[in-house]
Amino acid sequence: MSCLNGTECRETAKRRRALAVLALMLAIFLILSAWSFLPSRQQALPTLVQYGEADAVLGKRVFQAYNCMGCHTIVGNGAYFGPDLTRIYADAGPAWLAAFLPSAAGWPTAAAVQVQLQNPTVQKEAGTADPQDYLARYPGAAERVQQRGGQHTLMPNLPLKASEITALMAFLKYTSSMNTEGWPPKPNPERRIPARMRADAAAVAVTAPVPAGASAASAVQHPVALGKKLVNDLGCAACHATDQKRLVGPGWAGLSGSTVELADGTTVVADDDYLVESIRRPDAKIVAGYPPHVMPPYDTLINEADMQAIVAYLRSL
Ligand code: HEC
Ligand code: HEC
Repeated sequence: MSCLNGTECRETAKRRRALAVLALMLAIFLILSAWSFLPSRQQALPTLVQYGEADAVLGKRVFQAYNCMGCHTIVGNGAYFGPDLTRIYADAGPAWLAAFLPSAAGWPTAAAVQVQLQNPTVQKEAGTADPQDYLARYPGAAERVQQRGGQHTLMPNLPLKASEITALMAFLKYTSSMNTEGWPPKPNPERRIPARMRADAAAVAVTAPVPAGASAASAVQHPVALGKKLVNDLGCAACHATDQKRLVGPGWAGLSGSTVELADGTTVVADDDYLVESIRRPDAKIVAGYPPHVMPPYDTLINEADMQAIVAYLRSL
């Protein structure tokens, strides 16, 4: 390469070096850009996070449809009326959430969590069917059950369908599996729970999961009152109204002694035996107009004395 008047070509050598450095930078930039799109970076992908039949994308739609973000923050967005939900699935686990979401106005008790653990999907996702083991794996669930189980919450009941709850679980599972570099910082439970409510909860705290068939009979004497307490503790109220309104299952008012139409076209009188069977083995007789396999079988969870109390309560409605 010739330079003017035979002078040395130092300029060109410098320029060449500059161009070489620029080319190297460009190459690094392109490689990094390509790498950032590689799925192998172990970032959770919403399309791949499944819970039951649903994926996280479907769950996000449900989350938006119910405007959960109008009250909650999640992954840094939203409002501050309710607690942050980013890590709720990892903290409290699928069985606690499955007990909470259908009846959000009441905090689940240990018994309600135990009921959900009978569901095969919940068992699979939780990695255990044993209530004690579950509470050990998910300390967030144990903490909530102990501090507030059975109490009222500040969240309204939402008319969520079973499929929508499954989808929400997929979405909350996804946000729990995201690498958020430690966000949000762990909330201080003392501050999160208003002092008045802590005092209430302490008075009736459920300290240990109810062993199968445990009786609460000593706590409440009158069978109707005991039955009323049991159907709340066991999560029945999430699906049944105490008037004749249809929720997930039929309303209970006037049921006892009435004639019930069944899905197979026959009828049956709702005597005590029928009520007991409907609770212990719900799929033995399906009420016309309702789907089977929705109500969990309570056979191993309710002992004879508690069952009598529940039946007495149903008769009183
Ligand atoms: C009207 C406001 C409001 C809406 C809408 C709302 N929530 Fe809540 N939620 C709350 C409040 C308030 C609490 C805390 C209740 C308490 O501490 O008593 C809460 C608690 C929760 C909790 C328990 C959190 C914890 O750390 O224990 C979960 C899970 C939850 N909400 C999920 C949802 C989902 C999912 C939706 C949408 C389908 C939703 N919420 C919609 C107000 C709301
Ligand atoms: C997940 C929702 C769900 C839960 C929780 C649930 N049920 Fe049900 N229940 C249903 C559905 C749906 C039906 C109707 C289909 C059938 O017959 O199994 C039903 C039917 C019944 C019937 C028969 C009603 C009739 O009109 O003949 C009784 C009684 C009953 N449930 C009691 C209970 C009690 C007591 C509990 C709690 C220990 C409970 N259920 C918990 C969903 C639920």
